[in-house]
Amino acid sequence: MKKAPKNVYTCQDCGYSTAKWMGKCPDCGQWHSMVEGKPKTISSGTKSNFDLSGAASRPVPIDSVGGIVEERMSTGILELDRVLGGGMVSGSMILIGGDPGIGKSTLMLQAMHCLANAGQKVLYVSGEESIQQIKLRSQRTGAGNSNLFVYSEIVLEQILEVLEQEKPRAVVLDSIQTLYSQDLTSAPGSVSQVREVTFRLAMHAKKSGIPTFIVGHVTKEGAIAGPRLLEHMVDTVLYFEGDRNHVYRILRAVKNRFGSTNEIGVFEMAEQGLLEVSNPSAVFLSERPEQASGSAVTASLEGSRPILLEIQALASPTSFASPRRTVLGLDSNRVALLVAVLEKKVGMPLMNQDVFMNVAGGVRVTEPAVDLAMVCAVASSFLDRPVPSQTVLVGEVGLTGEIRGVGQLETRIKEAAKMGFEQCLAPRTNLRNLRPPSGIKVVGVKSINQALEHLF
Ligand code: TYD
Ligand code: MG
Repeated sequence: MKKAPKNVYTCQDCGYSTAKWMGKCPDCGQWHSMVEGKPKTISSGTKSNFDLSGAASRPVPIDSVGGIVEERMSTGILELDRVLGGGMVSGSMILIGGDPGIGKSTLMLQAMHCLANAGQKVLYVSGEESIQQIKLRSQRTGAGNSNLFVYSEIVLEQILEVLEQEKPRAVVLDSIQTLYSQDLTSAPGSVSQVREVTFRLAMHAKKSGIPTFIVGHVTKEGAIAGPRLLEHMVDTVLYFEGDRNHVYRILRAVKNRFGSTNEIGVFEMAEQGLLEVSNPSAVFLSERPEQASGSAVTASLEGSRPILLEIQALASPTSFASPRRTVLGLDSNRVALLVAVLEKKVGMPLMNQDVFMNVAGGVRVTEPAVDLAMVCAVASSFLDRPVPSQTVLVGEVGLTGEIRGVGQLETRIKEAAKMGFEQCLAPRTNLRNLRPPSGIKVVGVKSINQALEHLF
């Protein structure tokens, strides 16, 4: 008698599978995460899919491999192109993650609309919305073009068949957690489904050369829902982030096989969809109060792009035994460290002060080059004296109160000059080979004390 293949139990958190049910996954330690399912068999035809290039099926010396010209296609949205490293690479798989309601579907629909306008046939597959709902959204964003095809479907096999027939120049799958393959018995969104669907889509993308965008939901902990392994299976991972109460959204690459991961794209969510923000400095400084204490402007570098940001601080007497340090948009350990440096090296009695810090516009910065601005904002609030207007502060602060050099100072100063700033305090060590643009005075400082003396 022929034995039926045994079912396996797969952990829904990490993908570990075993022949026996277990209460706790031995791999990741999660309780009650094992779910019974059919064992994954390699379907026929999968093998040939591994032959990605169609040429080398044996190892070959690298210098005998002919080069390929990296073909990039613009999405028509410059901010998105920038984050992708200059456009979509053919056959690449791009994952877009982000909180619900942040604008992932809107961004993808707009990008597909731009491509359609440029005469490319594109396909937008939604497992979440009906085609009427997509139409409604498209009316808001003005996306209506006969080259843009919409399709509401969740069965992977159907989608792959449509892709074979229609042969679009780019495709969006919104979202990966709603799709499922009929080969597996587990529910859509489970680890085995997401892994199988992503794998088959990636193989299709490589074979057909169609750039494939997949939208992924983010869990409460901030990881892309379910499997982290998704991030390993795609070429590019983009995160769409921002405070839902602010209109600005930042698109950030966290992994990119075809470009740098430092680039960011800035968007504004408006009535008619997402608008590109090509001059973020102007936007982030637009509401800056004039001559107010506790506000300092810095030039932060996001990838190759300098952005001027306003750092705000409020120091006020505490009524607690241990003073509060409340921070938004900055690293709270960094704030604690810099407040301690101010206390010890400048002699500012901040031990009985609550300190609150914020980056205006809901932006997040982690670069140490903004240290000097953070220190000066706190000092300005404590002394209740404003930082001279039209002054930009750049520099990393060390534990002995010294100001350390930063990368690409010239780029930062140029941006400040462009925005009409007249003075820049910068690390003295950076000044040697500096050629600052005209119209801005660069003051080199060696220590926090020197900087504060110059400002106040
Ligand atoms: P959406 O793209 O559906 O988010 P996601 O796919 O990431 O879940 O965006 C939904 C939000 O964007 C919703 O709260 C309304 C807002 N929105 C606008 O403000 N203007 C618009 O033109 C559109 C289409 C959406
Ligand atoms: Mg959506």
